[in-house]
Amino acid sequence: MLHRNDAADDDDSGRTAMKGMIFTEFLELVERTHSAELAETLVANADLPSGGIYTSVGNYDHREMVTLVVALSRQTGQAVNEVLHWFGENLFTTLSTAYPGFFAGKDNAFSVLVGIESVIHTEVRKLYPDAELPSFDVMQHGRDELVLDYHSPRCMDDLAHGLIDACIAHFDEPVTLARRPLGKTQADGTRFTLTRA
Ligand code: HEM
Repeated sequence: MLHRNDAADDDDSGRTAMKGMIFTEFLELVERTHSAELAETLVANADLPSGGIYTSVGNYDHREMVTLVVALSRQTGQAVNEVLHWFGENLFTTLSTAYPGFFAGKDNAFSVLVGIESVIHTEVRKLYPDAELPSFDVMQHGRDELVLDYHSPRCMDDLAHGLIDACIAHFDEPVTLARRPLGKTQADGTRFTLTRA
């Protein structure tokens, strides 16, 4: 049975918590790709409730991530959805290096992606019982097609898109990825369809 985590844990304007690890990874990536100065500028200008001091095991308002992504977009001129996608691609490299167990014995992207919710995030939840994870419902899984429906109150479908693209690149497979909204608003979720050529 798939668990859908689509209820925000607070009743005010969609605030949900996000693991500090995601913030520390983002700021380190900005440092590596751009500069330490730019990372400091983003934090200094953003007026963040946390003050921009993140520990990997802490929990922070996920809207701070949105603020940082928008701030980077303003500084670099790159669109917000592209910044999130770029972050997702790089986050995949970090996660797959830090947690090689999820990839051991796997020789294709479908075999990893089919288990984002049932295997990977299930383990994440054991590690961090308070993690706020999205749901990835497997709507179809065949040799040549995988259809995943993403739902999250945090609406980070562009981050998910980057993570999935990087997983396909990791296995160097001829797989194309298409996405479409599942409803009128971003909160209705996104369908990702992977097709093997
Ligand atoms: C390609 C595979 C993966 C995809 C597509 C994926 C997708 C996502 C997305 C989109 C989020 C942002 C939160 C949201 O949308 O509500 C997220 C959060 C997270 N993911 Fe994954 N993920 C993947 C693999 C992994 C792996 C390998 C780990 C390793 C431990 C991991 C750990 C986490 C953690 C810790 C969070 C933050 C939870 C929180 O903020 O409380 N994910 N994931």
